[in-house]
Amino acid sequence: MIKFRAYDLILKKRNGSALSRAELKYLLDGYVQGVIPDYQMSALAMAIYFKGMSEEEALFLTEAMIDSGETISLEAIPGTRVDKHSTGGVGDTTTLVLAPLVAAAGIPVIKLSGRGLGHTGGTLDKLESIPGFKTDLSESELVTAAKNIGVAVAGQTKNLVPADKMFYALRDVTATVDSIPLIAASIMSKKLAAGAESLVLDVKCGSGAFLKDYKQACNLARLMVDIGKGAGRETVALITSMEQPLGKAVGNALEVEEAILTLRGEGPSDLEELCLMLGGLMVFLSGHVSDPDSGKAILKKLISDGAALKKLNELIVNQHGNGGVTEDVSLLPKAKNRVNVKSPENGFITMLKAEDIGLAAMALGAGRETKDALIDPAAGITMEKKIGDRVESGDTLAVIHAGSDTSAELISSLEGKIISAYRFQKENCGKPQLILGRIDQKDR
Ligand code: URA
Ligand code: CA
Repeated sequence: MIKFRAYDLILKKRNGSALSRAELKYLLDGYVQGVIPDYQMSALAMAIYFKGMSEEEALFLTEAMIDSGETISLEAIPGTRVDKHSTGGVGDTTTLVLAPLVAAAGIPVIKLSGRGLGHTGGTLDKLESIPGFKTDLSESELVTAAKNIGVAVAGQTKNLVPADKMFYALRDVTATVDSIPLIAASIMSKKLAAGAESLVLDVKCGSGAFLKDYKQACNLARLMVDIGKGAGRETVALITSMEQPLGKAVGNALEVEEAILTLRGEGPSDLEELCLMLGGLMVFLSGHVSDPDSGKAILKKLISDGAALKKLNELIVNQHGNGGVTEDVSLLPKAKNRVNVKSPENGFITMLKAEDIGLAAMALGAGRETKDALIDPAAGITMEKKIGDRVESGDTLAVIHAGSDTSAELISSLEGKIISAYRFQKENCGKPQLILGRIDQKDR
């Protein structure tokens, strides 16, 4: 192997030149092996933050990260598997809806998901709120599930992209998380290592996302689509609004219930719209139809004829959960204590800060403040009113779902926090647009 010096490569990046494939591989391998120390990688991250990376360089970085660990190949599964990834939001129930919905269209969906941290939730925690549900499937169980029922949602089995685990933790404490090439390489390395053949990305934008600005979200989406293409995987991105939580429910069992309602055709309209848009693209990328609208039409039919809900039931039963929940949501854990949060004002809702709702749900036990914190599957918040709705003083804005051991002080302080997440005005500003844009491969 060519011998470089970390110092020279940091200097090169600091001065604005692009690093080569071999240079990035040297840095990442050296970091994972403990040869290159945190302080040099921190300086590198900061140089990348300020100088950016070319599209090619970001692809090299992604590949070097993938090479740091194991990868999953699910070639034994027939058909084109299409994966979906969201950059993270509040009350983002889409995976719970999309996995069975797209699988019901005959497209194999093997989704490797994560747990929640901070104000955003994790799909594994949500599914584990279903009594008995098991998320630790082996690779052979994943393949068997895909062959038998066409769908599985589980935790990661192998040691994928260890370089990202280390580098992300370092970025987190060195103010270098919000660098577009670093985010793109971090996300894409994990998706590509997990074996996605084609990929639909949901890039969130707005107050509840970590990219607040539309232009930045487009830049991130463009770079991720280009990396996907460079790695030989068909990739499309939607830019979607995270100005307010998605759907009504934020919390684990609450979101499972919301997903079941959505698969029955009775879910909140924003969640349904986003699932149909993302799902339509997934069906399109699988090659089953010639355009995303036709994909969407197929999915609508699978909701109305009950096939999508049946697929969720099969998924739950196959992973040892109580399948009865799809017919009877009262089998899901329910919070002992429900408190209505009342509107202090008359007017139209013009703001509902997603991050504040996510943090309040976390404080109730729906999420984790630290990696090892325990969660309460029943806890969370449901929003009865959202942006564009008219309210009178005393109307219920939201409902707090709390465990019996949640103190009255905490509940009362969260009531205040939830109220202050809302803004009221005399004039109606309408509902925010949900789908803000779409980024395709340049050759499309
Ligand atoms: N999510 C990731 O997985 N990586 C980032 O760098 C940012 C968000
Ligand atoms: Ca939701």
